[in-house]
Amino acid sequence: MEMKRLMIMLLCATGVALTGNASAQVKKKAAVKKKPAPAAATVKTPPPPFATDTEIEDGKNLISKLDCLACHKVDTKLVGPAYIAVSEKYPQDQATVDLLTQKIIKGGSGVWGAVPMAPHPAIAPADANKIIKYILTLKTNSHASL
Ligand code: HEC
Repeated sequence: MEMKRLMIMLLCATGVALTGNASAQVKKKAAVKKKPAPAAATVKTPPPPFATDTEIEDGKNLISKLDCLACHKVDTKLVGPAYIAVSEKYPQDQATVDLLTQKIIKGGSGVWGAVPMAPHPAIAPADANKIIKYILTLKTNSHASL
């Protein structure tokens, strides 16, 4: 009788130990499972291209129809800075597109020297955006001779 009781108690104890162990393993697995999740989250989808080929092509065409080339060349300083120099000065981001769009429309001086950039109030912001995208991509593509 005593022996049987002892066996039962042992069995129970083993059972508890096993269950305990099992749940610990489940926890471990859960912890292990969690790890890949943040790693996967850091895999960023690539950003859309800064400018599409169409925008760049449109920008290039707009520049050649406007008065820009009276004062700018792609690779040589004229009255204004070479466009390649402009593209090397600024990052390819929307803030720069907005900033330089305003510069085209409103004009201004002091960034490259004392001579002012002529204002162009008749140019639509959407067109100026494309012009700037064309200019800013000069450093990274060879699209570009005017
Ligand atoms: C009358 C001469 C003249 C004309 C025309 C002209 N620019 Fe400029 N541009 C300048 C000068 C001068 C500067 C330098 C201004 C400065 O130092 O802030 C300049 C600067 C710029 C810059 C750099 C601005 C900056 O803040 O870094 C861009 C971009 C630019 N011009 C684009 C154009 C475009 C596009 C056109 C045609 C729509 C054009 N320019 C027409 C003279 C001109």
